[in-house]
Amino acid sequence: MNAYTKQAPVTVIGLGLMGAALARAFLKAGHPTTVWNRSARKAEDLVASGATRAATVTEAIRASPLVVVCVLDHDAVRDVIRDVGDAFTGRVFVNLTSETPAQARETAAWAAARGIDYLDGAIMDIPQGVGRPEAMLLYSGSRAAFTDWQPALSCLGTGTYLGADAGLAALYDLALLCIMWSTLSGFFHAAALVGTEQVAATAFTRMATRWLTAVAGFLPRMAEQVDSGDYETDVSTLGISAVGLGHLVHASEEQGLTADVPGPIKALFDRAVAKGHGGHALASLVEVIRRPKAE
Ligand SMILES: NC(=O)c1ccc[n+]([C@@H]2O[C@H](COP(=O)([O-])OP(=O)(O)OC[C@H]3O[C@@H](n4cnc5c(N)ncnc54)[C@H](OP(=O)(O)O)[C@@H]3O)[C@@H](O)[C@H]2O)c1
Repeated sequence: MNAYTKQAPVTVIGLGLMGAALARAFLKAGHPTTVWNRSARKAEDLVASGATRAATVTEAIRASPLVVVCVLDHDAVRDVIRDVGDAFTGRVFVNLTSETPAQARETAAWAAARGIDYLDGAIMDIPQGVGRPEAMLLYSGSRAAFTDWQPALSCLGTGTYLGADAGLAALYDLALLCIMWSTLSGFFHAAALVGTEQVAATAFTRMATRWLTAVAGFLPRMAEQVDSGDYETDVSTLGISAVGLGHLVHASEEQGLTADVPGPIKALFDRAVAKGHGGHALASLVEVIRRPKAE
C-alpha cells in the first residue's frame, strides 16, 4: 500500500504560466496546496481558489512532503534552493523546470549530497493542457519518488519514467522539442511560400496535417536505419532529396522569400552527398550530424 494518498499536501514553487497551471491541477484534484512565487502577487488567484501562500521558500518546502519547483531556468532553480538549509529533509523534490541534461544532473547531485529524493521532469504540453490525461510528462531520477508519488503526480497528466539518470527527462524534452521546432519552422516557411500566391495558411493547413501524418509514418523504418547504420534503400535516396531541396531554395527566392529555413537544410544534405551518402537513405544524414569520434 502506498504511503502517499491522492490528497497528500503538495507545494508548488514558481507560479508563472506553467507553475500556476500545476498548482491549479493539484488543487482541482483535492490536494492541500501551498504555493510560493518570487513576485507574491502571482499567488493571489490561487489563494482565492484555496491554496495557502507561504511567506518564504523555506516555509513552502517545509509545508509538504512533495515539493514541485517550476521556474524559468536552471539559474532560477539555483536561486530558489540556495538558502533553504535543511528544509528539504524527508521531502521529495520534483523539478519540472526545463533544463539541459547536465543542469538536471547538477541539481540531482545537489540533492544527493543532502540526502534528498530527487525527480527531474519535463512537461510536454502547454499550461492549458496540464491536468488532462493526454498531457505528457517525462520523469527521471529517483524511481522510488516516481512510484510513491504517482497518485499525486498523475493529476498533472500521464507520466513516463525514463530511468535513474536524472538527465534523461531533459534529454528527451530537448529531443522532442527539436522535432517540434524544426517541423514548425518548415510549416511557417511552407505557409509563407503558398502565401506568395495568396493561398491562406488556414486553407493549406488541411493538406499539411495529412502530410505530417504520412511523414510520421516514415519514422519507425528510419529509426531502424539510424540504429543499424544500414542505409541501403530502394525507396528514395538522400541525393534526390538534395536536388529537391535545391528546387525549394530557388523557388523560395524566386517567390520573394528568404531561404533561411531550407538553405541550412540543403547545406546539410549537400555535406552528406559530399561524404558519399548520395545513394543512401535519408537516415544517413545522422552520419554528418554526429561529430566524428576523436581518434
Ligand atoms: N509555458 C509553457 O508552455 C511551458 C511548457 C513546457 C515547459 N515549460 C517550462 O516551465 C518552466 C516555467 O515556464 P513558465 O511558462 O511558467 O514561465 P513564466 O511564465 O515566464 O514564469 C517564470 C517563473 O520563474 C520565476 N523565476 C524566474 N527567475 C527566478 C529567480 N531568479 N528566482 C525565483 N523565481 C524565478 C518567475 O517568478 P516571477 O513571477 O517573480 O518573475 C515565474 O514564476 C520553464 O522552465 C519552461 O520551459 C513551460
